[in-house]
Amino acid sequence: MTSVNAHRAEEYARLEYELARAQRLASVGQLAAGIAHDCNNLLTVIQGHSELIAADLPEGDQLRCDVEEIGRAAARAAALTRQLLTFGSPGERERVDLNGIVRGLETLLRRTAGETLELRVDLASRALPVHVDAGQVEQVLLNLVLNARDATPAGGAVVLETATVAVAPGEDRDPALAPGRYARVTVSDTGAGMPPEVLARALEPFFTTKSRGEGTGLGLATAAAIITHLGGDVALTSTPGRGTKVDVLLPLAAPPAA
Ligand SMILES: Nc1ncnc2c1ncn2[C@@H]1O[C@H](COP(=O)(O)OP(=O)(O)OP(=O)(O)O)[C@@H](O)[C@H]1O
Ligand SMILES: [Mg+2]
Repeated sequence: MTSVNAHRAEEYARLEYELARAQRLASVGQLAAGIAHDCNNLLTVIQGHSELIAADLPEGDQLRCDVEEIGRAAARAAALTRQLLTFGSPGERERVDLNGIVRGLETLLRRTAGETLELRVDLASRALPVHVDAGQVEQVLLNLVLNARDATPAGGAVVLETATVAVAPGEDRDPALAPGRYARVTVSDTGAGMPPEVLARALEPFFTTKSRGEGTGLGLATAAAIITHLGGDVALTSTPGRGTKVDVLLPLAAPPAA
């Protein structure tokens, strides 16, 4: 009897700890989004005014080059703060076909991949209805293809595949996913791969192996934040020298009421 009670107390303490952690993360997210929003407005002012100054200066003028450099830095910083914005935003969710999202993004992804990275798309033949903010899912896919590009400097391939998967009750997954049917999009590359110590930390916010100014370390953290918020999961598999596979799972939407 005592052991049952002790077990319950332990379980209760664990849940309490998890709840406190989730609440802390949520408030950090809201704070980050608030600051990012204000920063974004200021950066728009900086960008706009540097364009105005540049337009007044003659072509080839050193001052014009300098002020254009300021404008470019402001634009990069604005792109960065937009990433932070999605951390705290719940997004506008609607029922969409995951295949449709991938198809609609294909041209942009191909351009992102560049000439040395071959992009292949292999979509499930059936529609994969999910209840998501399509813009956020696009951002996730774009981040994953950018990572694949960065991991394959000498060229290679990146493949986007979609499928339906079932998660059985009690399936051993970390983090645990509710049992049910999921839509899966897999982004795999033939790039450098990750050693175990990088793989273990890749989803952490601000963790990057790229040099200063090249990576923020927010790509995968943002992706994971968005997908977990939608009731899904991001799982990484990687072999150094062989490549990386990212599985993104999203709950399949229930059929619309007749
Ligand atoms: N496809 C991949 N192949 C090899 N390593 C990867 C891959 N994706 C991520 N990584 C590793 O995980 C780290 C974190 O990735 P993440 O996308 O979060 O940040 P980043 O790419 O470094 O910066 P940012 O996305 O802001 O440009 C990367 O620096 C890299 O070391
Ligand atoms: Mg990245």
